[in-house]
Amino acid sequence: MKIAVIGCGHVGLVTGACLAELGHPVVGTDDDAQKIVALRQGRVPVFEPHLDALVMENVRRGRLQFTGDIAAAIQESGVIFICVGTPPLENGEADLSAIDKVARTIATHCQSQKLVVEKSTVPVRTGEELERVLQLYGGRSGIAHEVASNPEFLSEGRAIEDFFHPDRIVIGTSSEKARGTLENLYQPILEQKFACPVHSHCPPIRKPLLLTTNIPTAELIKHASNSFLALKISYINALADLCEIFGADVSKVAEGMGADRRIGREFLRPGIGFGGFCLPKDIQAFVRLAERGGYHFALLREVEKINERRIDHFMEKLRKALWVIADKQIAVLGLAFKPGTDDIRFSPALAVVARLLEQKAKVKVFDPKAMERARPLFPQLTYCRDAYEAAHEGDALLLATEWEEFRSLDWSKIRNSMARPLLLDGRNFFEPKAMAALGFEYHSIGRPDLR
Ligand code: UDX
Repeated sequence: MKIAVIGCGHVGLVTGACLAELGHPVVGTDDDAQKIVALRQGRVPVFEPHLDALVMENVRRGRLQFTGDIAAAIQESGVIFICVGTPPLENGEADLSAIDKVARTIATHCQSQKLVVEKSTVPVRTGEELERVLQLYGGRSGIAHEVASNPEFLSEGRAIEDFFHPDRIVIGTSSEKARGTLENLYQPILEQKFACPVHSHCPPIRKPLLLTTNIPTAELIKHASNSFLALKISYINALADLCEIFGADVSKVAEGMGADRRIGREFLRPGIGFGGFCLPKDIQAFVRLAERGGYHFALLREVEKINERRIDHFMEKLRKALWVIADKQIAVLGLAFKPGTDDIRFSPALAVVARLLEQKAKVKVFDPKAMERARPLFPQLTYCRDAYEAAHEGDALLLATEWEEFRSLDWSKIRNSMARPLLLDGRNFFEPKAMAALGFEYHSIGRPDLR
């Protein structure tokens, strides 16, 4: 059965390419005509490990096509994945206009029953609205389309791996037929039987959980999961601030906590906070959604507040170390919201850059992948060809995104090239004693400062 993927952003492209890799014929569509032209030429507009190879291979095999004609794409398909963006509105609620538009297009253009799958992260009850729109606008055709929620749990930088080796596949629907269709679609993933495009030898993986629920439950699982991850991050960041007050080491606190299998080690890395187009947006939407339902989600509001304060806290560290920030030359390593991606949306690194510029510092930056995306937003920065150029004659160096390649730099050479060997590590990326031994005045998050 042919699959249409509506919206060729990060989620849509990964979903379409991976389903094609599993052998399904897929047609991807997007209202950005330039993006479609690029994809047809095998050019993938986002950096995601393995994605460009997967797209090119499946386009070559004719299993993955791209078109700007959404009506044609949905008419020739039996399953339609809605992967359009749901960005935050001014008031923090999710903007569902793109989903509404796709639903109306499906209802008015389809002459046969479709399975419409919401993949985009949406507030609870969006699925019910989707069903209503399909009925209202499809009334004359007399066709009752099926609707399911199948939330994505893809992390940028490892999205292809997350698709092939998920912890769980969640299918929310009231239709047995829809459940069966999606279960068959994901069978190779559920059985973990496929030629893996990521690993030559897959790590020992347990089979994913298949969870079938009603639509609201599936939608809520997504928001609840992302918000819990954000909560863990803000919790360890709050503990980092306490560690600085009490002279404790947050890395050891995290290690001691994480050894408890009920807590787990993941998402206990303190730093300048969480960014990206998912956690910040999803937690905002969840809080607003809860409040519209009459529930004041104070817990998650506090998670947001702690995260917002990370930049203030980091800048205060810099001010204490530098005294005056204005007119100082400051190097920032990392602009992406996290390593492994060129995505700068809601990037804490760029929040730091913006504060440095506000305080009239002279800022030199380097990021292995994200500089071209940052350049139009921050033309006044000096974009360097490598970390050495960024650090040269600097009064301070800030590590804002923990790209693994920064570990293998010649830090003695960097230290000797700086006007002042001041290093602020916004992601606790380095070992304090090692950096102090190299001669840096080393500051990090929730750990004792070393000189
Ligand atoms: C997230 C969820 O992990 C994923 O399951 C969901 O489908 C989409 O949103 P992503 O936004 O790609 O994925 O990135 P993630 O790895 O979750 O990191 C989000 C932010 O949290 C980054 O800015 C990262 O630097 C930060 N982070 C992460 C921390 O500050 N500390 C941590 O311990 C982990």
